Amino acid sequence: MKARIVIDKNKTVSRIDDRLYGSFIEHLGRAVYGGIYEPSHETADDMGFRGDVMEMIKELNVPIIRYPGGNFVSGYNWEDGTGDKSKRPKKMELAWQSVETNEVGIDEFQEWAKRAHSDVMMAVNLGTRGADEARNLVEYCNCETDTYYAEMRRKNGFEKPFGIKTWCLGNEMDGDWQICHKTAYEYGRIACETAKLMKWTDPSIELVACGSAHINMPTFGEWERTVLRECYEHVDYISLHNYYGNPNNDTAAYLASAVDMDSFIKQVAAICDEVKAEKNSDKTVNLSFDEWNIWFHSNEQDKHIEKWQVAPPLLEDIYNLEDAVVLGDLLITLLNNSDRVKIACLAQLVNVIAPIMTETGGRIWAQTIFYPFMHTSQRGRGTALEVSCGCGAYSAGGKKDIPYISSAAVISEDGGELTVFAVNRSLDESCGLDFSLSGYESFRPVLHTAMEGDDLKAVNTADDPKKVVPAEKDISDGIILSPHSWNMIVFQKTAQ
Ligand code: AHR
Repeated sequence: MKARIVIDKNKTVSRIDDRLYGSFIEHLGRAVYGGIYEPSHETADDMGFRGDVMEMIKELNVPIIRYPGGNFVSGYNWEDGTGDKSKRPKKMELAWQSVETNEVGIDEFQEWAKRAHSDVMMAVNLGTRGADEARNLVEYCNCETDTYYAEMRRKNGFEKPFGIKTWCLGNEMDGDWQICHKTAYEYGRIACETAKLMKWTDPSIELVACGSAHINMPTFGEWERTVLRECYEHVDYISLHNYYGNPNNDTAAYLASAVDMDSFIKQVAAICDEVKAEKNSDKTVNLSFDEWNIWFHSNEQDKHIEKWQVAPPLLEDIYNLEDAVVLGDLLITLLNNSDRVKIACLAQLVNVIAPIMTETGGRIWAQTIFYPFMHTSQRGRGTALEVSCGCGAYSAGGKKDIPYISSAAVISEDGGELTVFAVNRSLDESCGLDFSLSGYESFRPVLHTAMEGDDLKAVNTADDPKKVVPAEKDISDGIILSPHSWNMIVFQKTAQ
């Protein structure tokens, strides 16, 4: 198979917001306890944070991390995780039916995030709580006033505000599994009033309203419309969440997951613009895809995990090669929609549906999905360019016209490096790539890295952590994409 990639310097998608490479840490399973925090671990720092985890997260260069949930946040009292650790309450955590010790809270997490070179994207509880607790949290985190909550932060040892800029107005409030689930109208009203109070407390913050928990929610579409009609002028983004998977082992269909993501994004963007037109507003609400990933491997094992444990091993998906290819394709889709998707959070970061796995008290390793995220986060910064790719197409899982090749292109901030990310979705054919680079005639390929292999189900483990890793390809005979592969091709400007 052959395909031609056409790129034109004058045809850009958008400047990429760095927050496209965000991630997520929830108080769930072993994400916090046994993940980022384990005081007895041999690599722990002065605050009990695991050094090995921190180092691996730095390799991913994650600019923003959503916290503390997720479903967890809808029952969370943020004050429980502040101040003297010995006085913090141990609580029944209803979302995941676990025990929360509150050893880690916002006091610790914001410090951990700084050490990981990330910002915090903070979610407020709009389940059991409301506008008052949310505006108090903004004051605690961001204000320099001599008022109660800012003083409380100072008494807890933090003279300077944390400076948290991006905030989520609750989590998946459309889902009946959510603690204190709401109708679209009920949520739209509380989101509007909470947003007003939060922005009056700190006018510099940006707010994300909850969209649908996934595209197959029965209320999808109407939920976004109703919520935005209530709070349009007070919010900056609406969220999208979606997890993909291959539960029926139909890999051809699974490899087309990104087609569904693309359509989801375009539908939500259209609804935002519909409400904008109805309101005759000058303001554009953009998208925050603040939960996306592959999640299905652990579904069965999670049914057998005992309730009311501290840090039970929940949602510990082990990812294989085909998952890495799909994840790379989802990243390509986010890049190609970077004119509307300004924030995206890979859910999650450590142990819980995560690129990084640890043994509590032991080793650490990178899952297969670590690598496409690392490639795009490291090289996918700058401006996304439109890519037109002439290639064949296939049908699978009830979908037609699925292009075999999916690709995105990014020109670096300094204009010296052009990176093409590409997935070959064909299960059996390799594909030779041809490039037409208008405006980049002096650019030559200098690197082709790929994740490929015959065994689509191969995984990395603590004992065999490098079984599925990217490898550099020989480019002397051109760029060839192997079947079911993830690829990064770097072009550099040459002197003419
Ligand atoms: O990321 C795991 C869970 O998935 C989150 O808590 C929730 O928001 C979503 O349903």
